[in-house]
Amino acid sequence: MPILIRFRPRPGMDIDPALDRRFDADEVRIGRSPESDLVLRDEALRFHHAVISQSDTGIRIRAVGQERDEIALDAVGDSVVLGSHSLTLAPPDAEGPVLVIEPCAGGEDAATLSARYLAGLELPRLAVRRWAWGLALAVLVLGFLVPLASTLLPSSRGLIAAAPAALRPSILWQVGTMSSAHAGFGTECRSCHETPFVPVRSSACLACHAGTGQHVDPHRVPGMDLAETRCETCHHEHKGAVQAIREDQGFCVSCHGAIRRQFPASTLADISDFGRDHPEFAPTIVTDAATGATSRIRLGTPGPWPDHGNLRFTHAQHLAASGIKGPDGNRVLTCPDCHRPDASGAQMQPVKMERDCLACHQLQFEPSHPEWHLPHGQPEEVASRLLGFYGSAVLAGERFDPVRDALFARPGEAPTPAELPQAAAHSAAAAAMASSIARAACGECHATVAPAPGADPLAWTVPPVHVPASFLPLARFDHAKHTSVACQNCHASETSDGGPEALLPGISICRQCHAGAAGDGQKIASPCVSCHVYHHAELAISAPGGVPK
Ligand code: HEC
Ligand code: HEC
Ligand code: HEC
Ligand code: HEC
Ligand code: HEC
Ligand code: HEC
Ligand code: HEC
Ligand code: HEC
Ligand code: HEC
Ligand code: HEC
Repeated sequence: MPILIRFRPRPGMDIDPALDRRFDADEVRIGRSPESDLVLRDEALRFHHAVISQSDTGIRIRAVGQERDEIALDAVGDSVVLGSHSLTLAPPDAEGPVLVIEPCAGGEDAATLSARYLAGLELPRLAVRRWAWGLALAVLVLGFLVPLASTLLPSSRGLIAAAPAALRPSILWQVGTMSSAHAGFGTECRSCHETPFVPVRSSACLACHAGTGQHVDPHRVPGMDLAETRCETCHHEHKGAVQAIREDQGFCVSCHGAIRRQFPASTLADISDFGRDHPEFAPTIVTDAATGATSRIRLGTPGPWPDHGNLRFTHAQHLAASGIKGPDGNRVLTCPDCHRPDASGAQMQPVKMERDCLACHQLQFEPSHPEWHLPHGQPEEVASRLLGFYGSAVLAGERFDPVRDALFARPGEAPTPAELPQAAAHSAAAAAMASSIARAACGECHATVAPAPGADPLAWTVPPVHVPASFLPLARFDHAKHTSVACQNCHASETSDGGPEALLPGISICRQCHAGAAGDGQKIASPCVSCHVYHHAELAISAPGGVPK
């Protein structure tokens, strides 16, 4: 016997007349879900709320999922409340039982209630099909044909370029939020999608990002050629404002957690997190003064290290708390007297003799002429300046060392009287060079090299000075981000007579403030890319045999 369910609106609801539906099935599912046999737009109901079925005497209502929670409506007038609706058993009609459903009194007012019911599909008022076709056509034209035409027809491009971004037809094909870095030109689809319906090629990215380099030299480590990988395997687009790659240290650890699995010849340590599992730093220093060749030596390796920058300098002596003698008496030196940040603030400018040392180390050499200063330059320049000084003094009648024939330009022959002043100047210059200049004026700071026996006695050499621009080239460090930290917190310079082994900070100092990727509440969360870059600009991605994929 089919059940007749009669919906009786509340007075004042804009629904007329009462709605009758007869259900032939044994069970009628009732709930908020559109799949229910009887959809009731009632926030108080669950999606699948109850099942109505017939019993011998009347109607049973069973809550879905709670088999024993069952209510029987046996006599006419029996009633039950589901959410904000009441269900009442009415007298049966000719065909079967009749159940009346009506919104309970109280709660929402009639107008709100009817608006809700009218929005429901169970009360179709419009010719749905016609509307469906109309809307589908509009979507096709506006969402596909217009953007397609605007992409394909060159004549439309000027017009579109002039339109505000939000009104450009292509915005309709936007499949997701652009990454924040590209948000500025996100509607210029063609800057990445060079050809419609062809996946984005790396060459489109490289057109703007020409400086993007390899991670490691692919000739050294096979299988690491980025020219064979499409950029978007790592740099997703249309997936939200942030570049996920920045925080994702799992990507780095997938290789660096066990680097020899990827690259058996590697000498790098395995690394999984800065806070827990990262090796002590290994500064790159000059270990061969002659060639300038460098090596990495792990901090903690006992010193003194074979640091051969060819420059003598001791911090402890110059930074003495009592000061150090300068031209105008004692001066207390501080770090910025010699180390000034570069333009970006990230690194320190190289120390410069003229700017940082000359005021105190004035390159005087002749006790009888304190006004004579040598230029800080190549030894040849020094030699010619020396000859100039002594030459004019000898001509003016001054005498320095006795003329020594051995130092004369033509060995073995005594100078003629006419040549005597020149010989005297030359010999005085050579003597000055050997004694005070090479050993004191220049030799105080430089490991000067004497001329070979028999060569011009003025031909001393000053080996090149190697002061590395960076001691930790495998990472990036930014002084500008640490201006609130005292230099001495990281560099034990005031007390140090040593080189980099004593001056550079170890990892434990960084860990005072930097934790691994997860952070730990107080310390700064530092995933790998906060200190390391992935693409090394000096290893340009060149694509052998043509454009990258
Ligand atoms: C900065 C470069 C860039 C710009 C600009 C850009 N896209 Fe994309 N788009 C991509 C990349 C890369 C993918 C592939 C996504 C992936 O695999 O993560 C993609 C994927 C898509 C896809 C999915 C189909 C496919 O080829 O994978 C659609 C559709 C799309 N873009 C539409 C647009 C529209 C429309 C615009 C302009 C409003 C636009 N894009 C601007 C880079 C860009
Ligand atoms: C029309 C030029 C242009 C094209 C094409 C382009 N980009 Fe960019 N990209 C930029 C600009 C501009 C920035 C912002 C640079 C900045 O902030 O210093 C940027 C930033 C980035 C960044 C850095 C994001 C960050 O958070 O710092 C990545 C990664 C990037 N682009 C990858 C790509 C990839 C991959 C493609 C190809 C799908 C691509 N770009 C195509 C211009 C372009
Ligand atoms: C195997 C993964 C991978 C591939 C492939 C890749 N990148 Fe990257 N890219 C990264 C990682 C990791 C970063 C590090 C993010 C950082 O430094 O903040 C990065 C950073 C960048 C940056 C911003 C920082 C910088 O070095 O300037 C740009 C721009 C960039 N990539 C462009 C590209 C382009 C263009 C391509 C394709 C030729 C590409 N990437 C391919 C992983 C990748
Ligand atoms: C696909 C594997 C792979 C991934 C992913 C990877 N690396 Fe590497 N990385 C290598 C290899 C291989 C080397 C070279 C090892 C060697 O020289 O002994 C290397 C070298 C390095 C070095 C030493 C730098 C140098 O110039 O030699 C650093 C630092 C580094 N990677 C950091 C990172 C960071 C940070 C990430 C994540 C953004 C990352 N790597 C992701 C494979 C990977
Ligand atoms: C009178 C000048 C002078 C002053 C003042 C000075 N330095 Fe230096 N510093 C130098 C010179 C010169 C070098 C290069 C020495 C070398 O290569 O052996 C150097 C090198 C360094 C280095 C690199 C490590 C190395 O062995 O080359 C650090 C770090 C450093 N100084 C920190 C400091 C700090 C911190 C202060 C203040 C507490 C300071 N310096 C004050 C002249 C100075
Ligand atoms: C404020 C003055 C002052 C400045 C600036 C200064 N020095 Fe000195 N330096 C001295 C004095 C004074 C001595 C001699 C100390 C002594 O003999 O006790 C000295 C000694 C030295 C010595 C010899 C150490 C030894 O024991 O033989 C070297 C090398 C040196 N300085 C290098 C430098 C360099 C390099 C710079 C610039 C980066 C520099 N100094 C800047 C005052 C200065
Ligand atoms: C007080 C220490 C000091 C004295 C004294 C000194 N120099 Fe220097 N010299 C330096 C420093 C520091 C540098 C590296 C920075 C620069 O170039 O200013 C340098 C660099 C040089 C260079 C360049 C080396 C290269 O790598 O290209 C030459 C050449 C040189 N000095 C020659 C001399 C000569 C010749 C004298 C003696 C007349 C002299 N210096 C005296 C500190 C000194
Ligand atoms: C938070 C720690 C920290 C603080 C604070 C700090 N430094 Fe450094 N400094 C470093 C590290 C790490 C390096 C090695 C970086 C490199 O060479 O790649 C370095 C390198 C240097 C160098 C070698 C040349 C260079 O630029 O790489 C000098 C000189 C220097 N620091 C001077 C200073 C002075 C002066 C101050 C104070 C104004 C200072 N530092 C503050 C950590 C610090
Ligand atoms: C707080 C900064 C910081 C963080 C975060 C960091 N590193 Fe480092 N890392 C350094 C410094 C500094 C060095 C020393 C660089 C050098 O010796 O030239 C270094 C060295 C390395 C080296 C060379 C290892 C060796 O054997 O000497 C590798 C590889 C490396 N880091 C990978 C990673 C990876 C992968 C992560 C993320 C899990 C990471 N780093 C996180 C600062 C950092
Ligand atoms: C006294 C605390 C302190 C110490 C010690 C310290 N840092 Fe930092 N570091 C900071 C702060 C604060 C910032 C800025 C963080 C920010 O801008 O979000 C920072 C930023 C950085 C950044 C830039 C991160 C980025 O995302 O741009 C690097 C790289 C870095 N530190 C490396 C180091 C290294 C390497 C050491 C050890 C030699 C070190 N720090 C020691 C406090 C410290």
